[in-house]
Amino acid sequence: MTSPITTARHGDVLVITSDNPPVNALGAAVRQGLQAGIQEAAGDDSIKAVIITCAGKTFFAGADITEFGKPMAEPGLPTLVDQIEALDKPVIAAVHGTALGGGCEVALASHYRIAVPSAKFGLPEVKLGILPGAGGTQRLPRVAGVEFALELAAKGDPVSAKAAQAAGLVDRLAGEDSLLADALAFANEVADARPLPRASEKPVSADPAVFEAFRATNAKRFRGFEAPATIIDLIERTSTLPYAEGVVQERNDFMKLIMGVQSAAQRHIFFAERKASKIDGIADDIALRPINKVGVIGAGTMGGGISMNFLSAGIPVTIVDMQQEALDRGTGVMRKNYEGSAAKGRIKPEQVDQAMGLLTPTLNLADLADCDLIIEAVYESMDVKKDIFGKLDAIAKPGAILASNTSYLDINEIAASTQRPGDVLGMHFFSPANVMKLLEVVRGDKTADDVLATVMALSKKIRKVAVVAGVCYGFIGNRMLIPRQMEAMKMLHEGATPQQIDQVHVEFGMPMGPFQMSDLAGVDIGWHRDPTRIENIRDALAAEGRWGQKKGAGFYDYDEKRNPSPSPRVAEIIADFRAKTGTPQHEITEDEIIVRTLYTMVNEGALILAEGKAQRASDIDVVWIYGYGWPVYRGGPMFWADTVGLKKIVEGLEKYGFEVAPLLREKAEKGERFN
Ligand code: 3HC
Repeated sequence: MTSPITTARHGDVLVITSDNPPVNALGAAVRQGLQAGIQEAAGDDSIKAVIITCAGKTFFAGADITEFGKPMAEPGLPTLVDQIEALDKPVIAAVHGTALGGGCEVALASHYRIAVPSAKFGLPEVKLGILPGAGGTQRLPRVAGVEFALELAAKGDPVSAKAAQAAGLVDRLAGEDSLLADALAFANEVADARPLPRASEKPVSADPAVFEAFRATNAKRFRGFEAPATIIDLIERTSTLPYAEGVVQERNDFMKLIMGVQSAAQRHIFFAERKASKIDGIADDIALRPINKVGVIGAGTMGGGISMNFLSAGIPVTIVDMQQEALDRGTGVMRKNYEGSAAKGRIKPEQVDQAMGLLTPTLNLADLADCDLIIEAVYESMDVKKDIFGKLDAIAKPGAILASNTSYLDINEIAASTQRPGDVLGMHFFSPANVMKLLEVVRGDKTADDVLATVMALSKKIRKVAVVAGVCYGFIGNRMLIPRQMEAMKMLHEGATPQQIDQVHVEFGMPMGPFQMSDLAGVDIGWHRDPTRIENIRDALAAEGRWGQKKGAGFYDYDEKRNPSPSPRVAEIIADFRAKTGTPQHEITEDEIIVRTLYTMVNEGALILAEGKAQRASDIDVVWIYGYGWPVYRGGPMFWADTVGLKKIVEGLEKYGFEVAPLLREKAEKGERFN
């Protein structure tokens, strides 16, 4: 096998180049080649300096994640980076693309770093549930200060080359198209400079208060995760422990995290997210339809949020509503949202007008005639949707893709109201649609392959994580929500309180529990609107106008700042209802809540999978991570079930009298996993 590493002499300078597509991950062959390159430089007196650089689209984007959990071939990355730093000739890392994780650590072990302006530096290991394990937590604070190191390593978001330069991580910026030439010039300049600037030898000074402040500020973000706390501790110790001891600690902590469930879960999601974009039975190279203009029907919360995705990606949108007032209100909200983002520094001020300038509001459905994709986002009524699709059929140009944002309804029935069912599919966005990353793409029985592939590819452009779902009530995500919400409600009847059930979910790591979610979404959603018809506790709340946060009262009472508190009135309503129905009461334990609201989701997931409504178990995990805030460190419901043990899940479901999905039972009996 030929090595991905080549070396070439440029005068006195040895240029070591890695070419390991797609992202120059630091797999065994790359590490071996780099080590050989360093040895070549060490053994040749005529070499005065070394450049490490990469071919292709990026500098090393990190360790090879696919090697994790397998025996590590020599040299390990920590050994390699120490050898780079120990070389007695200057080593210059010449960076383009993304120097991430182990890639950033190779750069840190090099004596100098030069980067093109578009390059990015980052330590994203934390997002995989691990920590920079090749000296990153010990070298970065010494090179760029503890505050910068905390931001980079504990949060995991990359920074621009410019920001890296400001912090001292980058010594010099190269021309965008002259990286090698500029690196060679740099190498020649520093060829004889001694002593060599070695990161591990630099002192660290830090105000001890910085660490407590950082922990406090980010407490919510880090809740439940093991890796960030470990990373902060390691960086904190750089100011008290010598480098040699710090890296030993780093290695031990790295090994502990990588063997743990959280890291396995987070690595699972990394690959699951990428796998989700692959459509079974459709070739990767299928010709896609061009999408240069999008139409959105409905200027409400969903329609507005959906439009913003396209506007932000530079794709013009025509938005239609029936009333001028609704149109004005909708576009006003969109502008306000953009202005809010600009005020927070998330976008540049000029981007507000740029985005809004791409928007054409209209009252006339016929104005959608030139759109390549039309997304209907009106309220959930089959009759209304069929009427709209019937009209669209007459208006839309041939080849236009027609999508419904329905969260539950039958896409096949909607498609049948047109003469072109092959062009119809579901695009189920999650609220707020401009923020939530998930997009369920619903494949109807007749949806054409190129239509599905086009929308899946487009989702990347608008920075969504898209998952293919089949037609069924609630698709993947909302269908699994049904047993959860139903069981939560039943437990209220049988003796639990809303806060008790919500607390179990929050402690599990969900952003909120079933009743907090109900209050946020609206207790009145799907309500029959007859205050005299009280068949359950939800009806009783809705009849009293306790519609949730928007009314200041739902399952909880809310103050002006929307802080919830347990509601004495709700306790009364629940007590009345229990008395009226004579429902037998029992003490509801945490175990019962977990089985009835979480195991039942897994059970539903198994049905979805067996029916082929999800392509793979990992797609279900992606839906719950990106659509509902399932804690990523638990890897999604199906991965979580694997970690609990499917046998235990089956036993739990049986204990509380649920019918176990055949696929779940089969897997449990065979000792198999979903993922
Ligand atoms: N190891 C193995 N495979 C990787 C990889 C890695 N570090 N990074 C990306 N890949 C694979 C992806 O799985 C994908 O494979 P596929 O085509 O078969 O689906 C392919 O490379 C392309 O990746 P993307 O689709 O993500 O390409 P993008 O261009 O959108 O993004 C990227 C490129 C920004 C580099 C992104 O892939 C990324 O963020 N990668 C992970 C970076 C990372 O986490 N690095 C740290 C690794 S841990 C580490 O370094 C430990 C060390 O401290 C000891």
